Amino acid sequence: MRTIIEPFRIKSVEPIPVTTVEERESLLVRAGYNLFRLPSDAILIDLLTDSGTGAMSARQWAAIMQGDESYAGSPSFRRFEAAVQDIFGFRHVIPTHQGRAAERILAATLLAPGDVVPNNTHFDTTRANIEAVGAIAVDLPSPQSRDLEKAHPFKGNIDVDALRALLEKPLTRVPIVFVTVTNNGGGGQPVSMANLEAVSSLCREHGVPFYLDACRFAENAFFIQRREPGYSGLPLLEIARRMFALSDGCTMSAKKDGMANIGGFLCTNDDAVARQERELLILTEGFPTYGGLAGRDLEAIAVGLYEALDLSYQEYRHASLQYLGDGIAAAGMPILQPPGGHAIYLDAARFLPQVPRHEYPGQALAIELFRHAGIRSVEIGSVMMGRRDPQTGEERFAEHELVRLAIPRRVYTQSHIDYVVEAIAEIVRRRDQIPGVRIVEQPAALRHFSAVFEPLKAPVAASA
Ligand code: F0G
Repeated sequence: MRTIIEPFRIKSVEPIPVTTVEERESLLVRAGYNLFRLPSDAILIDLLTDSGTGAMSARQWAAIMQGDESYAGSPSFRRFEAAVQDIFGFRHVIPTHQGRAAERILAATLLAPGDVVPNNTHFDTTRANIEAVGAIAVDLPSPQSRDLEKAHPFKGNIDVDALRALLEKPLTRVPIVFVTVTNNGGGGQPVSMANLEAVSSLCREHGVPFYLDACRFAENAFFIQRREPGYSGLPLLEIARRMFALSDGCTMSAKKDGMANIGGFLCTNDDAVARQERELLILTEGFPTYGGLAGRDLEAIAVGLYEALDLSYQEYRHASLQYLGDGIAAAGMPILQPPGGHAIYLDAARFLPQVPRHEYPGQALAIELFRHAGIRSVEIGSVMMGRRDPQTGEERFAEHELVRLAIPRRVYTQSHIDYVVEAIAEIVRRRDQIPGVRIVEQPAALRHFSAVFEPLKAPVAASA
């Protein structure tokens, strides 16, 4: 059947507001045209992130009621640890309040100034935590990832030749190798089992621990099942176990494929490393049987990790993303091909050729999506990844000017997706009226969160 059916029914609903263009224009003015500064209860469809924004299941809510909030030795921790060990297979499981806390503890434990850490593409918090201890984060994406338009089944792969060259480079200390599944910074694209196997054997050869940034491990497992020869008959749980068996540890944000609204963890097979990490954990997160979480959060994650591996859920999620990607591409919106596991990335530079890089085409398009249709997205281009030199005022631009539509898990139905397709088709028809923006105010670091923008011309009203 062609209908994409949500494999769940809805027990609890949350109203979302229908606003007018005029209301949204005044909201934009008040927010300084920065979508991070919008009140979220004024947004019709919020595609800012898939992180912590999912809907929990009735089973997860039931598990929450079993949360044991004891400071030490909680059975909720034992259930959480058992679930993580069953799926991920690592000896030590260290709970944290979210992914970046796991990254911070790992960086403080394993890295020293001057160390080099490769990854297919570092997520911004991973990079920031590596740089915070004076180490150097290096992205080694596969050559196929550079071409946005050309589809490849595993565009998220790390460049194994470049990794080998780095590991063999004299006087370069590489204390850890990372691979992010799926590769969020590279378009939500998957990494193949063959690529993970190659990295694993290279790391073992060089005696370097291999870690997965596992945030979207279940989506990656689904792509392997569908696209990689030899895996079509294997359950997602088994594929996930094989992915983790190739590595020595992981960082995880349970706000993604943990299907929870908060949480994360850090895993390792190394007893000495785990001991040091638990000491740091106690300092800033909490006792090792709760980390930065409540017992009830641990219960929700223990259930959610298995739900992410449910085949009918992944089939619905991927079909829905593919439908969105195909729908807007057919309407004339250039997108990063193929659609990712959690998001569709719009190629704003190609879509708005009249808006030059220094007028931030990604931000211009993101503003228009909200102004025209109440859809919030996020610019992943020169606003987020670029920099302005505080001394010279010179701008460094990002490689691509993208806008991400990240889909929260189990939240929006097919008609919400149809609405997004329809809205984007309308924006395609009035693309030549979309103005660039200038930055009026910006902080020195992480400017995308708080910068104030201004459209360069008053936007032309949408024709009905
Ligand atoms: N690694 C990856 C690949 C991520 O996508 C994220 C978060 C993190 C680590 C950090 O996890 O937020 O729990 O601390 N990504 C979100 C996003 C914020 O919108 O892509 P966290």
